[in-house]
Amino acid sequence: MLQTVEKTQMMGTQAPQTEAAARLHLLVVDSDPAIRSACAEIGTSLGYAVQTIAETAQARSLLRGHAADIVLINLPARKNDGLELISELKLLYPETSIIAMTASGSVNAAVEAMRCGAGDYLTKPFAIDELSSVLERASEHHTVDRVSRQIREQLRLSQGLGSMIGRSAEMEKLYRILSKVAQSTHPVLILGESGTGKELVARTIHAYGASSQKPFLPVDCGSIVPTLIESELFGYVKGAFTGANRSKDGLLVSAEGGTVFLDEIGELSLDLQAKLLRALQEKEIRPVGSTQRIPIKARIVAATNRDLVEMVEKGTFRKDLFYRLNVVNLRLPALRERREDIPLLAAHFLDRMTRESGRKFTLADEALQTMMRYDWPGNVRELENSIERACALSSGPVLHLGDLPTQLQQKGIDAWREANAAPHDDGAIAQAEKVTPLVDLEKKAILEAIRKLNGDKLLAAKLLGIGKTTLYRKLKEYGIACPLGEE
Ligand SMILES: Nc1ncnc2c1ncn2[C@@H]1O[C@H](COP(=O)(O)OP(=O)(O)OP(=O)(O)O)[C@@H](O)[C@H]1O
Ligand SMILES: [Mg+2]
Repeated sequence: MLQTVEKTQMMGTQAPQTEAAARLHLLVVDSDPAIRSACAEIGTSLGYAVQTIAETAQARSLLRGHAADIVLINLPARKNDGLELISELKLLYPETSIIAMTASGSVNAAVEAMRCGAGDYLTKPFAIDELSSVLERASEHHTVDRVSRQIREQLRLSQGLGSMIGRSAEMEKLYRILSKVAQSTHPVLILGESGTGKELVARTIHAYGASSQKPFLPVDCGSIVPTLIESELFGYVKGAFTGANRSKDGLLVSAEGGTVFLDEIGELSLDLQAKLLRALQEKEIRPVGSTQRIPIKARIVAATNRDLVEMVEKGTFRKDLFYRLNVVNLRLPALRERREDIPLLAAHFLDRMTRESGRKFTLADEALQTMMRYDWPGNVRELENSIERACALSSGPVLHLGDLPTQLQQKGIDAWREANAAPHDDGAIAQAEKVTPLVDLEKKAILEAIRKLNGDKLLAAKLLGIGKTTLYRKLKEYGIACPLGEE
C-alpha cells in the first residue's frame, strides 16, 4: 500500500509560512490526482513536508504509528468514510489538525465534518490563498494545542501548574484556560476574591508565555496616587513636573513585549482609565510632559476583586475599557469552593516553612479537619499566614488547633460542641413520630383477629390470650361495642 504514497520534495521556492510550518507534516487525502498535486505543490512551497494519498483506507495504514500534524481530507458527496476517518483520527491522534475539503454548496458536509472533529474546512474549488490561509490557521492551532497539552501533561505529574498548587476540578479548569491564554498576547482580566492567587496567576501566564524572558512589571493601581501611576505607566520627560530631573521610560515601554500587570484595576481613576484605553487602542503612549508618541508592545494582564460589571453600570468604570481588558477573563475560585485542595496547600506551606526554618513541621489531625471546615474569607493568603503563624508559635514539630488563629480555634470548638451535643436533632424527632403507641397496636390486633375469625369473639379472645370480658371491655373502650355488626 505504501507504494501508492506520493512523496513530494521540499522545493523551497518560498519562505515557510511560519517557522513552525517548516517542521509540520501535512497529509493530503483525495482521490483526484489534480487536487493532490496542487495541494502538494502549494503545501511544499509553504514549507510543509507533504505526503499525498488517494484512499482513506491507505491513509489509515500510513498514519498508524506516526501521526501527521495536519490532515487535509476530501469528503466525497455520497461516501461517509471520510467522516469516519476524521472521527478515528480525532480519537487516535487528538493533536492532529484536520481540514475537510467539501464540494461547494454542501454546507451539511462541512458541518458534519466539524462535528466529527475537523477544525476547519475548505470549499472546492479553492484559490491558492484560501488553501494557504486555512493551512496557516491549522498550523497555529496545532502549535497552541501541542504546547497547552505539554503544560497539561506537566500538570498531571505535579500538584499544580508551576508554583500554583491545587488539583481540584476548578483549578484544573483554570489551568486548561491558562495554558492556552499564556500563548496568546491578548489582554487578560483576572477576577477573584482577595488572596485567591490573582498575582500568582498573572506571573504564571507570563512564565508560560513566549515572552517569559522579557520583564514582568506589576503596578498596584490601588496603592499609588493617580499622578504617580500615570508617570509610572507612561513615563515622563525631564522637567515635566517638579523633581523630574531626567526623562524616564514608562512601564508600558520598558516591558519591551513582556507583561505589565495592572493590579487592582478597579481602583484606577476615570481620567487614567481614559488614558489607558487610548494607549491600548492606539498601541502607543505619550509620556507626561511630552508631545511625542512612543509605540508599545507590552501585554496587559489586569486583576481586581471588585465587581467590574457593577462598576460599569454605576459609571465608575469605563465600559469600553472593560471590554478591551476582558478579551479573556479568568475567575479564580475561592478556597471554600475547592476545599479538597486545602491539605495540598497546607502541605506545601509546611514544606516551605520546614525548608526556611530547618525545623520539621506537621499538622495535628483536628487542626487539619478544622481547616477543611473553615470558610477562609482571606483565601489562600489567609491559609498561608495561618500556617506561618502556627509554625512561629508552636514549640514542637506538631501544629495543634491551639496554634492556629482564634477564628479557626473557634470553628474547631463549635464543631466539637456540635458533635458532642445530646442527640435531639430533627432526624430523631422524625423517627419518634413513626413509633406506634402500644394501645394502637393492641386495637389493631383485636380487630384483626375478630375479622379473620369471621366475628367469633370467643375464639378471638382465646387466641389473643385474654378473657372474653376483657375483650368486650376493650371493644367498649375503642367505642366499638358490636364489631362486624354481630351482636
Ligand atoms: N494556587 C496557589 N498555590 C500556591 N500558592 C498560592 C496559590 N494561590 C495563592 N497562593 C499564595 O497566596 C498568596 C496570595 O496570592 P496572591 O497575592 O496572588 O493573591 P491575590 O488574589 O492577588 O490577593 P489580593 O487580592 O489580596 O491582592 C501568595 O503568597 C501566593 O503565593
Ligand atoms: Mg494581589
